[in-house]
Amino acid sequence: MRVTMIGTGYVGLVSGVCFSEFGFDVTCVDIDEAKIAKLKKLQSPIYEPGLDDLIARNHEAGHLTFTTDFDAAVAEADVVFIAVGTPSRRGDGEADLSYVFEAARRIAHAMRPETVVVIKSTVVVGTCRKVHEIIEAERPDVPFSICSNPEFLREGSAIEDFMRPDRVIVGVEDERGEKALRQLYRPLYLRETPIVVTTLENAEITKYAANAFLAMKITFINEIANLCEKVGGDVQQVASGIGLDNRIGGKFLHAGPGYGGSCFPKDTNAFAATGRNNGAPQLLVEATIAVNDARKRDMADRILEALGPNPAGKTVGVLGIAFKPNTDDVRDAPSLVIVPRLVGAGVRVRAHDPEAREQAERLLPGMEWCDQPYEVTEGADAVAVLTEWNIYRGLDLKRMADKMAGDTVVDLRNIYRPEDVVEAGLNYISIGKKAYGADT
Ligand code: UDX
Repeated sequence: MRVTMIGTGYVGLVSGVCFSEFGFDVTCVDIDEAKIAKLKKLQSPIYEPGLDDLIARNHEAGHLTFTTDFDAAVAEADVVFIAVGTPSRRGDGEADLSYVFEAARRIAHAMRPETVVVIKSTVVVGTCRKVHEIIEAERPDVPFSICSNPEFLREGSAIEDFMRPDRVIVGVEDERGEKALRQLYRPLYLRETPIVVTTLENAEITKYAANAFLAMKITFINEIANLCEKVGGDVQQVASGIGLDNRIGGKFLHAGPGYGGSCFPKDTNAFAATGRNNGAPQLLVEATIAVNDARKRDMADRILEALGPNPAGKTVGVLGIAFKPNTDDVRDAPSLVIVPRLVGAGVRVRAHDPEAREQAERLLPGMEWCDQPYEVTEGADAVAVLTEWNIYRGLDLKRMADKMAGDTVVDLRNIYRPEDVVEAGLNYISIGKKAYGADT
């Protein structure tokens, strides 16, 4: 079976490469010539552990090719995936589907009869039907099938998530589509992965409902963290306590500075808009969005407070800019709200991130970059941890204290043990716990 993947963004590239690893012949298409040129040199345009190796291996084995020639790639395919972007539209937060519809029109012109078109991009309910109408209008006499196959990959562990997912969701409208997707996911089925075959609409809603629920779960524990701070609790212990209830589950209960990334912020906004547009407001999701937005600002204020009554002119060393570890992605990262708020208050901000510099440099003017983690602590009045990269976990706190001008660590990811920080002679402000003072 020949597969063509339209769009070599995160989801498209990882999925295309992984299907080639399953042994299918995959062509990845993008209109961005620079991206395709890079891929032809077997270099991944995104940072994702393990991806470069899979690209090289499958390209050399002859399963994986890259091209900008959309029409040729579609014409030779049995299954065409649409994995183009669905960014938030400015103003109303709704998903911009114009790239999906444009891809559908072009596929209609180039495809051969009985092509199976699969929408992998995250799209609001009803989009797959619209894609069907678009293709049918362009090629009324040619049989084809539409499927929905949403993706649940996490950045940083995307390959593992693709190869060992909790489940695969497949929305279909006919047998041809179902058969093609069952065949494509057969390697996972053999590993006993549940394959949920359902309608197009159910598949579309499932994707948004899953992300909205996870975003809500994180936001829930973040609010519990606020309460813990006020009453002398410890959110990590509360999270373990509730997480052991199988109905709740322990994952996605790490309190932090608010969720970011390319999916949760965009998808919760789009889902809330879908609810409003269809007369079924999703009030929990609306509240999640508002609480999460406010949280990022509150985190900046927490750091400013740690600097005392006159933060202007003080220096903060920031560890971590990416929205989470093992990625260079900074989309909707808490750092993009926190750093400008600090800079706006006249604070000098010096930051380190192992991967995100290239992506973040132009988004964070007025911030200085350091090459090494210890460099950010030099002369800092406070050090703030924004991303839980492993290399920050093992920093020598005593060495850090010696280099700092001040004595406060604001750990927004709870990566240190309060006793260790205090032992190094530093004050420790974290999430969902009381503040620990070096002299208390
Ligand atoms: C997410 C979903 O997990 C994935 O299924 C979907 O397809 C795309 O969106 P991703 O954005 O890569 O994946 O990252 P994820 O690990 O889910 O983290 C998202 C954000 O939530 C990050 O900012 C992270 O720091 C935050 N988070 C996550 C928490 O604050 N606490 C947690 O317990 C988990």
